[in-house]
Amino acid sequence: MSVQVVILAGGQGKRMHSSIPKVLHHLAGKPLLEHVIDTALAIVPETPPVIVYGHQGKLLLERFSQRNLRWVEQKEQLGTGHAMLQALPEISDNTQVLVLSGDVPLITPNTLKKLLDTTPADAIGMLTAQLANPFGYGRIIRDNQQRIVAIVEEKDATAEVRVVTEINTGVYYFPVNYLRRWLPVLDNRNAQSEYYLTEVISKAVSEHIPLHSVQPAVIEEILGVNDRQQLAHLERYYQRQMAEKLMRQGVTLYDPQRFDLRGEAHIGRDVSIDVNVIFEGRVVIGDECEIGPNVLLRNVELAKGVRINANSVVEDAKIGPRCIIGPFARIRPGTVLAEQVHIGNFVEIKKSVVAHGSKVNHLTYIGDSEIGRDVNVGAGTITCNYDGVNKHKTIIGDNAFIGSCTQLVAPVTIGEGATIGAGSTITRDAPPHKLTLSRAPQVTLDDWQRPQKRKNGSQSE
Ligand code: UD1
Ligand code: CA
Repeated sequence: MSVQVVILAGGQGKRMHSSIPKVLHHLAGKPLLEHVIDTALAIVPETPPVIVYGHQGKLLLERFSQRNLRWVEQKEQLGTGHAMLQALPEISDNTQVLVLSGDVPLITPNTLKKLLDTTPADAIGMLTAQLANPFGYGRIIRDNQQRIVAIVEEKDATAEVRVVTEINTGVYYFPVNYLRRWLPVLDNRNAQSEYYLTEVISKAVSEHIPLHSVQPAVIEEILGVNDRQQLAHLERYYQRQMAEKLMRQGVTLYDPQRFDLRGEAHIGRDVSIDVNVIFEGRVVIGDECEIGPNVLLRNVELAKGVRINANSVVEDAKIGPRCIIGPFARIRPGTVLAEQVHIGNFVEIKKSVVAHGSKVNHLTYIGDSEIGRDVNVGAGTITCNYDGVNKHKTIIGDNAFIGSCTQLVAPVTIGEGATIGAGSTITRDAPPHKLTLSRAPQVTLDDWQRPQKRKNGSQSE
């Protein structure tokens, strides 16, 4: 039988005190809802999930406009049962419905698979959990034969019910025909005057429909995000998991508590990562790379034996074998470095290709450039690539030597083996194998004297 996932995400998320919907807040660099969507598609890849949304639907639809999803609006937030009712017209007959919450981001495909695989046909599957502190959750009420008989919400619970530590996670697996029968007839006579999805459990019990329950592998899988403390808690949990996974694969993390992965990492052997390093997007790292402290890598590929020194930022770039970058370097999108290129402190490289063995070691800006092999770019060199309207290219041939403090006004080409005298402003192409410089002649004034301080003068004049 086919399975349809429904993700409930209509709630407001008041306790976030935020002007964006709760499910758009990020965990590990991606919206809470996207974690749930990705998990849903991991177990039911053939059918896009139905998402029930309420507040600020425009923001949600915009954020996920690139993805194939089915959206259902819940105009008024009248409760989880009402939310589910809105989704029913989207679900075909003879379907099994898997209900997830948009604010429970770390539920795993494994646990959901267990729920799907073990729930008997015609039964209702529920994911429940034991919590030391069950406050706030709906409690699972069982009879003396351990059969589930009801779910009671915290706000409706008597003191006797509140001591129950088995809770409803909000994840269920229903044959759709039950929902079609029960959801339209729910009432809202409860402490919150809401239509509770949990009420269908009492209806199932009264119709003697079997209930089956499954537990998650770890508690964090079912924890919801209602406020920013819970969000931070799950973020730390997730990061710890990622750090441990990398260490198991053979990566040295100087401090697993001070490493953050917001995306995916593919890391070779004998790579070491110092403290406060952040990876974003897709990061690929070859064998024997060393990542120094306080480094941000976003969508980068490092070949074998690259060293990224402290406080460097590398984004959308490809770095060749045994390059050395930083400390304090900024490598911007579109940069490709070949083998053994050295980029030093306070150097910014943007949309440029640098060939084998070239060095740009100090205080330099290279933009929209092609730099040949074994070039030496002196301290304080600037490629003036922008005329205020358009960007222009700088081309530097193999073995060129650019003296310090030079401005290369693009478009401009420096020939192979050319030498540019320090302090030059180069506005025309420089020929190969020659010294080119532009520099005001140096003068010395023999009869010049330093001004003397006036004897009676006030300093403010
Ligand atoms: C719900 C369950 C509770 C369970 C808990 C697990 C009910 C009545 N209670 O409580 O038993 O322990 O989840 O986390 O179902 N939503 C809508 N529209 C609405 C109301 C909610 O789409 O009108 C969505 C929310 O965005 C959220 C999910 O449904 O993703 C759960 O709603 P929430 O208000 O967080 O329910 P809880 O009170 O936490
Ligand atoms: Ca909740």
